[in-house]
Amino acid sequence: MRIPLIAGNWKMFKTPQEAEAFCERFRKLYKDTDVQALICAPAIDIPAVVEGFEGSDVKVGAQNVYFEKEGAYTGEVSVEMLKAAGCSFCIVGHSERRQYFGETDETVNKKAKALIAGGIRPIICVGESEDIRIAGTQNEHVKAQLIGAFEGIPASDAVKCVIAYEPIWAIGTGRVATPEQAGDMCSFIRETLIELYDEDTADEIIIQYGGSVKPENISEIMDQPEIDGALVGGASLDPDKFMAIIDF
Ligand code: PGA
Repeated sequence: MRIPLIAGNWKMFKTPQEAEAFCERFRKLYKDTDVQALICAPAIDIPAVVEGFEGSDVKVGAQNVYFEKEGAYTGEVSVEMLKAAGCSFCIVGHSERRQYFGETDETVNKKAKALIAGGIRPIICVGESEDIRIAGTQNEHVKAQLIGAFEGIPASDAVKCVIAYEPIWAIGTGRVATPEQAGDMCSFIRETLIELYDEDTADEIIIQYGGSVKPENISEIMDQPEIDGALVGGASLDPDKFMAIIDF
């Protein structure tokens, strides 16, 4: 039984003070829903968000991590640090990190392994660019990303991973994929997981859709049988909108 997971990805928005204000408002609005809610905050905001959600069901995650245990890696944050700060999830391989910060399938794989070893669940992002979608090779592209991300990860660990399908052309553009496009790709991802593992393993893995998710379109996205949640960028910055999304 997959419990739907709706995660906010704040990207590089909000100071700790703004994060605190978000939590204050969100907690006033918050009511129990059928979904697991999560906020993936900038590293500097994590303590404020953990404190702001204390005693509630809302989980806290990070947006990036470095795979080495510790050492001379100026500017990086380790799995142990995230864990100690109260994170239970961490996004890896977001398309913005692949595009601007040189993230590759190989680093995604190393980060996913390090996170699992440290008790944090990775949210592995995959998705095609507009050019790939026009060329019609999106399935091959996403499959290669999945093979790279899950390389050497046993089934018992794979079930701890979440996959976020985010077509790059739909991120922050207001151009949401049609529910069918999103649903088709998430079915294809599930089939690929069956090939990589087996039916039971694939059945346990949460697959999210991301890209211009809003209160207005969440229901039809969640109606797709293979979509188990959403990764929400812009709309997660507003507590009222985020609450409306998790209470779709
Ligand atoms: P968006 O971002 O909801 O603003 O399109 C989604 C994401 O990048 O995770």
